[in-house]
Amino acid sequence: MKKNIILIGFMGVGKGTTARAYAEKYNCFNIDTDDLIESKANMKVKTIFEKEGEKYFRSLEQACANWIESSVDNTLISCGGGFFNVKNLKELGTVVLLDASYEWIFNRLSTAKNSKAKLKKRPLFSEPKKAKKLYKERAKIYKKIADVIIDVEKQDMKSIIHEIHKKAYI
Ligand code: S3P
Repeated sequence: MKKNIILIGFMGVGKGTTARAYAEKYNCFNIDTDDLIESKANMKVKTIFEKEGEKYFRSLEQACANWIESSVDNTLISCGGGFFNVKNLKELGTVVLLDASYEWIFNRLSTAKNSKAKLKKRPLFSEPKKAKKLYKERAKIYKKIADVIIDVEKQDMKSIIHEIHKKAYI
């Protein structure tokens, strides 16, 4: 079994921020599936969606999962919100869900300093109604697939990363 931590959850729940805080505190490396895909395709996620379509983006997520399975260990991996759909997710490491209500996530994104940029780079968050529908469709699946569930709504970052370390440390 690989010793990666696979951080999943809905767009805007704070996977990237959490991963960076964890990596700093617990002295490990952190990679992000959207960053890996952007560097391989030499395009932003938003542009991949616009030019090549969502299906192609999902195929890049699968290629990324295959690379992680063959080549990555002892690493914290923050994943795009739809990455949980890859066929080999459970082979990649301990799957940790950052969980929060849609309202909390929407509030986090819309009150962020760089709120506009955060929403603009996420094609599936361009229409809040559609995003909420997607949240509802995915909420149960995220919980079912996760090995560890962390409720991020009522905790500060220090306690979130402590809980991850306790339950799924690298
Ligand atoms: C997506 C989430 C995004 C990104 C892409 C698709 C999704 O990542 O991978 O826009 O399907 O939920 P974040 O969860 O980091 O926003």
